Amino acid sequence: MSIGSWIRTFPLIQYLLVWAQDIFVSILRTGPVPQHVAFVMDGNRRFARRCKLEVREGHSAGFESLAHILEMCYQVGIKTVTVYAFSIENFKRPPVEVDALMEIARTKLLQIIHHGDLADRFGISIRVLGQRSMIPSDVLAAIDKATEMTKHNTTAILNICFPYTSRDDIATAMRDIVQQSEKHELDPATIDEYMLEQHMFTKDCPPLDILVRTSGVERLSDFMLWQSHQDCVVEFVDVLWPEFEPWRFGSLLLKWSRNKAVEYRKQEMEQDQKIL
Ligand code: FPP
Ligand code: MG
Repeated sequence: MSIGSWIRTFPLIQYLLVWAQDIFVSILRTGPVPQHVAFVMDGNRRFARRCKLEVREGHSAGFESLAHILEMCYQVGIKTVTVYAFSIENFKRPPVEVDALMEIARTKLLQIIHHGDLADRFGISIRVLGQRSMIPSDVLAAIDKATEMTKHNTTAILNICFPYTSRDDIATAMRDIVQQSEKHELDPATIDEYMLEQHMFTKDCPPLDILVRTSGVERLSDFMLWQSHQDCVVEFVDVLWPEFEPWRFGSLLLKWSRNKAVEYRKQEMEQDQKIL
């Protein structure tokens, strides 16, 4: 159990933490807020090993951490959150772990829509991005139910990448474009970055502002390769995902917001100088 989760077991401290988080959120809402944040939720198995838990329990702890982080994201006003829940590469893991991850996805998605708390409170539309053909039918049914039941929510988006890799996203987009071109629905001469973007899983999402990877590993692991454009900030955090507390994420938001405010001020001054 992380110090944060241990502390949360005391009601008074829990109350104070919620109060402190509310104040932190109010401060964050006064500055520029990113529109789109993505997470590589890495370190669940190392967390399980360290706490002498089963791998499945490590991933479940990872889901609890995700719920706390999402709450903070939507409270602050971030419109789109994209999480790497299952890479196509993860199918190479032991079947017992793959099954456990599928079961967590199935039960948690059903839980989210039946209890409705997170999705309803923040008006979240849930989308699952990736290769549907690789998903077992019972998990697919839960995904379809969750996407169908939340599709009219317009305040925020939760993209769950499952099973996903960026290279597959790009290849899928290219395949779509070639098929349309073969059917003479588009002119190959008009293929550009914008068109490719319009065929990707993240087509109607705002540009990615921050990509966070936990666990101290500093690589992208085939996630959001296209979407991590020149203005996207990549943050590697040396904390295992189940121990990634909202205040830690909040400090990354504060840093981003301060840098953005400086950038906007600079742009304003440049504009003023042009006018003068
Ligand atoms: C990476 O840690 C984590 C995963 C492969 C799975 C992440 C999934 C969840 C947190 C559950 C999310 C479920 C839904 C429905 C959104 P790792 O297994 O690579 O751990 P390690 O780096 O310590 O080996
Ligand atoms: Mg890992």
